[in-house]
Amino acid sequence: MTLLNVHIASIFFAGAVLLFADHDAFDWVLGKKQTLSHARMVLLHYLMWAALLSLIISGTLLFLPQASYLLHTPLFVIKLLFVAILVLNAILIGNLMHVAPKRPFSSLSLEEKLELYASGAISSFGWVSTVAIGLYLFY
Ligand code: HEM
Repeated sequence: MTLLNVHIASIFFAGAVLLFADHDAFDWVLGKKQTLSHARMVLLHYLMWAALLSLIISGTLLFLPQASYLLHTPLFVIKLLFVAILVLNAILIGNLMHVAPKRPFSSLSLEEKLELYASGAISSFGWVSTVAIGLYLFY
């Protein structure tokens, strides 16, 4: 398997984990489930970290041979900023995910709900933008 294949496979893996996690999150926000399984959330969180780390390691190895060219490509630098935002958001989610196993979404304050919505929006925007920039630069 080439490095690029590992990079692409990691994107599909992250996408699959994201679908499971977002499906759970929608059930909780819509009240279909009052609370979520803590063990399942921890598992999905670690799987997402594994996907991110695999993307960062394979991406760094792809980057090194063409570093001087890519560092002068503004879109690539923007892509790296998005990756940094996704990593920071994953750390934030690590703190927020202790809420759903304990409390129904409807019992949260407006501030708590806004924090969760913001994290979800950052995650969606970050993933779509990073994949779009990656594809645009490659083709
Ligand atoms: C969330 C993390 C990331 C996503 C979603 C992502 C996405 C992508 C995509 C979609 C491609 C095009 C692959 C293809 O169509 O064949 C790509 C290529 C690439 N990525 Fe990433 N990437 C991520 C992280 C990184 C990181 C952290 C680096 C470097 C430190 C990196 C470096 C590269 C390089 C060097 C290429 C090949 C570009 C080229 O040769 O034009 N990626 N990435």
